[in-house]
Amino acid sequence: MKILVIGSGVVGKATGKGIAEKGHQVIFVDINPETVAELVAEGYDARNPSGIEQEKADITMFCVSTPSRVNGEVELDYIRDAVTKHADWLRRQDEYHLIVVRSTVPPGTTRNVLLPLLKTSGKKVGKDFGLCMQPEFLRAVSAVEDFRHPWMTLIGEYDRRSGDILEGLYMDFEDKLYRVDIETAEMEKYAHNLFNAFKISFTNEIYEVCHKLGLNGDEVMELVSHSAEGMWNPSYGTKGGYPFDGACLPKDTSGFLAFAKSRGIPMPLLEAVIKVNKQLELEENKVKEVNKPLVL
Ligand SMILES: NC(=O)c1ccc[n+]([C@@H]2O[C@H](COP(=O)([O-])OP(=O)(O)OC[C@H]3O[C@@H](n4cnc5c(N)ncnc54)[C@H](O)[C@@H]3O)[C@@H](O)[C@H]2O)c1
Repeated sequence: MKILVIGSGVVGKATGKGIAEKGHQVIFVDINPETVAELVAEGYDARNPSGIEQEKADITMFCVSTPSRVNGEVELDYIRDAVTKHADWLRRQDEYHLIVVRSTVPPGTTRNVLLPLLKTSGKKVGKDFGLCMQPEFLRAVSAVEDFRHPWMTLIGEYDRRSGDILEGLYMDFEDKLYRVDIETAEMEKYAHNLFNAFKISFTNEIYEVCHKLGLNGDEVMELVSHSAEGMWNPSYGTKGGYPFDGACLPKDTSGFLAFAKSRGIPMPLLEAVIKVNKQLELEENKVKEVNKPLVL
């Protein structure tokens, strides 16, 4: 297949190079002339956006940046710009074409923000073009290698035809492939990153506590990585809607928080964990109250 990779930074390069290795024809596109020159020097076909006007292709993958604004919000201007320009290109295509969003975007963005821009081409989604959201899980430090050996591929598809084409592209990669709707894929990517961030912050909180108690936090967390079921059982703690309960978790969370407080050690993450659980308990009790049988 012939693939346009729009946005040739960390994710775009890893994506394009990995796909090219499988024998597909890849054209890298970027607004940064240095990025284009670097890829050309490596022997790849790389161009600025105006360089693809006359091209035909089977798939376009958007890998442009979606950084944070000063106020923390997600900056969608780059991807909006790139998609708007590409709608013009799409207008001139006479064959069915698949659009894939690889950038990390908040749930709803692909369907509610990017699809309307694509539709300005006059083409119909589901008929003239397909649409997928395929989040990337690679790590910046080992991007190309991670793309070559992914541990999983997630395809969020607008319809079956779009998902089938994208699945075909990944046929030669040996990993688990899951297919879901577009919004689930967008959300999964955030949940994935938030979980990693929470885990690191949790470790740092325990590390600080250990430091204050004169203990080795790395040693403690290394042992926890073997003892805590949540660390090694993928099914543990992944069903939502129920507070934690039982003989140990409620008493040990509040007990340790009180212990840390008595020694002047702040544990904001543990406080939040207890707060989230209490809230859920209250809601559960409310539901029980509503569903209580009437005593006549
Ligand atoms: N870096 C990572 O490890 C990583 C991992 C997974 C997902 N992601 C996500 O993937 C997306 C890309 O991240 P990245 O790290 O590759 O960003 P990056 O900044 O390295 O690359 C983005 C590229 O897009 C180009 N670009 C911007 N506007 C363009 C336009 N209109 N047309 C063509 N090119 C344009 C930029 O010049 C840049 O080269 C982001 O949404 C990011 O959150 C990043």
